[in-house]
Amino acid sequence: RKGGFDHYMLKEIFEQPQSFYETIRAGIDDRIRQMVLEAEEITLVACGTSYHTALIFKYLAEALCNIPVRVELGSEFKYFTPPLHGLVIAVSQSGETADTIAALKMAKARNCPTLAITNMQGSTVTRVADQTLLMRAGPEIGVAATKSYTAQLAALMEIVNVRCDGAFDDVLSHAHLAIGDVLLHEIKEAVALCAGAEHVFFVGRGAFYPVSLEGALKMKEISYVHAEGYAAGELKHGPFALLTAETPVVAVCTPGPTYGVMASNIKEMKARKAPVIALGVVGDTELAEITDIFIPIPNTHLLVQVLTASVVLQLLAYHTACALQCDVDKPRNLAKSVTVE
Ligand code: F6R
Repeated sequence: RKGGFDHYMLKEIFEQPQSFYETIRAGIDDRIRQMVLEAEEITLVACGTSYHTALIFKYLAEALCNIPVRVELGSEFKYFTPPLHGLVIAVSQSGETADTIAALKMAKARNCPTLAITNMQGSTVTRVADQTLLMRAGPEIGVAATKSYTAQLAALMEIVNVRCDGAFDDVLSHAHLAIGDVLLHEIKEAVALCAGAEHVFFVGRGAFYPVSLEGALKMKEISYVHAEGYAAGELKHGPFALLTAETPVVAVCTPGPTYGVMASNIKEMKARKAPVIALGVVGDTELAEITDIFIPIPNTHLLVQVLTASVVLQLLAYHTACALQCDVDKPRNLAKSVTVE
């Protein structure tokens, strides 16, 4: 049933080109399109990995379509509900996360239009929300979210695309090819570094900040290596105290307005002797020179870089967990869906 893979998690990582493509291909129906076009502001509520996809959406939507976006943890939102205007989107793979459902009900009680993004047809969020945008990830058996994460990004990127009048039609319909390109990346050296460490930092800027949060979450939940995700500029406001030759830093650094400042952040980390694993675009010899391990991702649109960098970080967590002989599909103390508040 694992289709020749050692674990469901790896099988599901490899299914991502298809699940991403299917979710894009399914598109967005007219009622949801209308809802998205009418929104003056969007609030997303979610937990865990879904919270990270929501944060990525915030960076992308604010930068690419200039719409204000707020992202709230379901568990906080219910008790500390902010003033609400406009569309509220609940993002939940299972559609059964109690905190996200509670937040969605709160938004309904405030008369906001609501949309659920979920992988599970007929789940509780679909019954509570006004409209549902169904991801096409197919059943996800591994406890760690992988293909549901990229399928959520597909759905959320579709929303960005609707707000941008279809400007990213072409980018999105080809993105699965780039995801396929990174699946067989050679990352043994990076895995060895993480498996031998007690603590690993993940850093990025902009949309790569939540990508880093997700990289750290995956590392923690399946390999039990302590990992922290940070906005790269924040390391010097405290965490630098922890950097040593024994604390690897995984930095995502791709061309764009923050490339230069990321490169100088990396030099500061190196000055504290931290080994740096960099994810950068193919052919970036400058970045390869200032870092210990360079993992290339395709030089594509930002939307696609977010996906490929995320998939490399999933593989890093997966192989690190395998190197440490962890039960990847059933990590300790975790359930696939958290139905208590
Ligand atoms: C992490 C993971 C969890 C879920 C979280 C929310 O790999 O799977 O953090 O993302 O429990 O679950 P859903 O998306 O079902 O609401």
